Amino acid sequence: MAGRLDGKVALITGGARGQGASHARRLAEEGARVITGDVLDDDGEATAAALRAEGLGVDYLHLDVTSPQDWAAAVAAAAERFGGLDVLVNNAGIIHVNPLLEERLEDWNALIAVNVTGALLGMQAAIPALRARGGGSIVNISSIFGLAGASGYVAYCASKAALVTMTKTAALEHAADRIRVNAVCPGGVRTAMNENEGTGVVPLTPMGRRADAREVSGTVLFLASDDSTFVTGTEIVVDGGYLAR
Ligand SMILES: NC(=O)c1ccc[n+]([C@@H]2O[C@H](COP(=O)([O-])OP(=O)(O)OC[C@H]3O[C@@H](n4cnc5c(N)ncnc54)[C@H](O)[C@@H]3O)[C@@H](O)[C@H]2O)c1
Repeated sequence: MAGRLDGKVALITGGARGQGASHARRLAEEGARVITGDVLDDDGEATAAALRAEGLGVDYLHLDVTSPQDWAAAVAAAAERFGGLDVLVNNAGIIHVNPLLEERLEDWNALIAVNVTGALLGMQAAIPALRARGGGSIVNISSIFGLAGASGYVAYCASKAALVTMTKTAALEHAADRIRVNAVCPGGVRTAMNENEGTGVVPLTPMGRRADAREVSGTVLFLASDDSTFVTGTEIVVDGGYLAR
């Protein structure tokens, strides 16, 4: 059966584990040739090897999203190994909890470097490659905390809100290049990011649970694929109803 991403090459950051690993699996299941990048090299290699053992086309490379050199090498690898790049998923992200008055400049800067600057550098590196293929799709992973405030998360909220308007700006600037740029705003998702968080957003989530990462991957697949050819400059919320009230 034809896959929804047959012939496409996708680069997914933060792909060593969690949602990035799930997106890698889902996109590869639909025929994409996937490259994952992360700073957790052992986990990244192991995850990619496990997916390859299932017959899925997933390769791992070291990609610190704060490094322009790493981005250049990753996009070059996509071109050399697989002929180009069609999809970028800016998924890498970090989080910390500090009340606003206790937020420390070094924590703030470190988080903005990964969550915001990392996505900027990714789009800057990928767009020429997508353009060379006649177009493509960029999916930026924001959060419900990019659309609503959350006590203790001032840096994370700022970073995820920035991604929403960066997404719209990139979509405006590159619509004529046939490059679509969209954001996904997940609610609580069961990953290492919140394993020590207790109930977290669950009590405020009408569906009463966190998502499985695969429930976010379906939306990433939709935005990456030709099922969404007229969708650009917007965000899709995947939150079990968190923002509905
Ligand atoms: N888990 C949630 O509830 C939730 C909700 C909404 C949005 N998100 C977002 O989803 C994305 C994926 O998070 P997750 O839940 O899978 O958590 P996770 O911590 O399991 O995954 C994040 C990945 O990003 C990687 N990473 C961190 N810094 C990096 C860097 N400098 N360069 C490259 N990779 C780096 C980590 O090593 C890790 O593999 C993040 O952007 C996160 O903010 C998570």
